[in-house]
Amino acid sequence: MTDGFDAAARIDTSKMHPARVYDYLLGGKTNYVVDEEFAEGMIAVDPTVRNTAMSNRWFMHRATRWLAGRGVGQYMDIGTGIPTEPNLHRIAQQADPTSRIVYVDNDPIVLRHAEALLDSTPEGSTDYVEADVRDPAQIVEKAGATLDFKQPIALSLIALLHFVGDEDDAYGIVSRLVDALPAGSYLVIAHVTGDFAPEESAEVVARYRRAGSTLRPRTKKEVEQFFDGMDLVEPGLALAPDWNPDLGPDQPPAGDTPVPVYVGVARKR
Ligand SMILES: C[S@@+](CC[C@H](N)C(=O)[O-])C[C@H]1O[C@@H](n2cnc3c(N)ncnc32)[C@H](O)[C@@H]1O
Repeated sequence: MTDGFDAAARIDTSKMHPARVYDYLLGGKTNYVVDEEFAEGMIAVDPTVRNTAMSNRWFMHRATRWLAGRGVGQYMDIGTGIPTEPNLHRIAQQADPTSRIVYVDNDPIVLRHAEALLDSTPEGSTDYVEADVRDPAQIVEKAGATLDFKQPIALSLIALLHFVGDEDDAYGIVSRLVDALPAGSYLVIAHVTGDFAPEESAEVVARYRRAGSTLRPRTKKEVEQFFDGMDLVEPGLALAPDWNPDLGPDQPPAGDTPVPVYVGVARKR
């Protein structure tokens, strides 16, 4: 892990970054004018986008509670984002203080704030790795300093894979990461879709492209494909608010429009 001062020097405030745009949507303060303007542009296209971001985050809370309830004690969270309480380790370590967590992100602003991700319980452990998901071998190698790859690990790719285009072989990346995990591990995915509002989705994709970034929404079938060869747990692939809502306390607000994020948790055989 490189230090925070180096990270601060590498933060580019001249173009929007997905981590900071998401932070703005969640009501955070770790973002710049360029991120706010981009986010407000998205809200103008789709006024429900803030609710979508929150529903996604609440899914992470519930999925982590579900995993902790199954006795999972190790987590590898790639595309962690800017710390937003409660972070994954807080939920996991509330259930089991010995839980070990490795966070991974490629944005220097996340590294800059990583100390908030590293306040582990004394019995457990948290680590932060600055890496790109497109280099799964490096991630597995570095995570091995904290995680035992002979024991089940929950791999979470929450609101990450839609930033990985087809040209980067998103499916190959996920397979290589899952291959490194032992049987009994879990894969957790949340992924944006354009299935319900294709025109608005295409407009948002175009805005990302103009800003020099990739957004690749995927259909239900395309998201399901990430779980090939694994067993999806109940309720299967669902829209974010519909995945085990009873695991609250965060209750997604009831709305008329579907939240365009497919989510799923699957077990490796
Ligand atoms: C929308 S945020 C999601 C944060 C968190 N997982 C959540 O759902 O609340 C997406 C995160 O993925 C990170 N990210 C995007 N592309 C990445 C890549 N190629 N490798 C690693 N992280 C990436 C961004 O920096 C950002 O922090």
